[in-house]
Amino acid sequence: MMEKNIYTTFDKIKGRSAKEIYLKQQGKVIWLTGLSGSGKTTLASALEKRLFELNYFCQILDGDNVRSGINKNLKFTEEDRLENIRRIAEVSKLFMNCGIILICSFISPTNEMRHMAREIIGEDDFLEVFVNTPLEVCEQRDPKGLYKKARAGEIKNFTGISSPFELPDNPFLEVVNTSPDISETVTEMLKAIIPEIKFD
Ligand code: PPS
Ligand code: MG
Repeated sequence: MMEKNIYTTFDKIKGRSAKEIYLKQQGKVIWLTGLSGSGKTTLASALEKRLFELNYFCQILDGDNVRSGINKNLKFTEEDRLENIRRIAEVSKLFMNCGIILICSFISPTNEMRHMAREIIGEDDFLEVFVNTPLEVCEQRDPKGLYKKARAGEIKNFTGISSPFELPDNPFLEVVNTSPDISETVTEMLKAIIPEIKFD
C-alpha cells in the first residue's frame, strides 16, 4: 500500500521538487539586513523588478507588510523581534520549497536572529546581504521621521539609537548603499545571487 504522505504531489525528482522544475528556478532566500533607512526596501523592490525582467519568480517580505499583517501583535522588544524573525524565516521556507525566490528585508539586528533564520532556512539557501549604510547617513535620510522621534525619546528600543545593531559576522555579500543611483548595487547583488546570469 502506498504510504500516505502530504508531500506526495511535491515528490523530489533528481533532488528538485516538481514545483521547482515547473518554475524553472530554484527557491532561495535573499536576506537583507541593515539599519532602518539603510535602503533595504528600496533595494528589495529594485532587485525584484530586475529578477522579474529576467523571468524569475520572486516574493518580497518586508517589515512594512509583515508587521501590519501576520506579525501585527509583535513590538520591538528583543523577544518580539526574535519571534518576528522566526515566523518570517518559517514562512520564507514554505515559499522557498515551492521554488520561489524570497527577498526578505528586515533589520534583523542581532547575529542570534540571523543565525536562527539561517538555521530554519538552511545554510545553502540563505543568502545574507548586509546593507551597510552608516548610521549618520540613515539618520540624515530619516524617511519616516523615526530617528528624530527616537532621539526625542518618543520611540523606545529604536535600532542604532536605543537598541543595538550587531554587525553581521559572516554575510554572503555586503553592499554599501550611499549613492542615489542603486542600479550598480542591484547588478552586484544579482551577479552574486544568480551567478549563471550573463551580463554584458
Ligand atoms: S526587526 O528588528 O527585524 O524585527 O524589525 P523589522 O521587522 O524589520 O521592522 C523595522 C521597521 O519598523 C519600523 N520601526 C522600528 N524599527 C526599529 N526600531 C524600532 N523601535 C522601530 N519602530 C518602528 C521602521 O520603520 C522599520 O522599517 P525600515 O524599513 O527598516 O526603516
Ligand atoms: Mg524598509
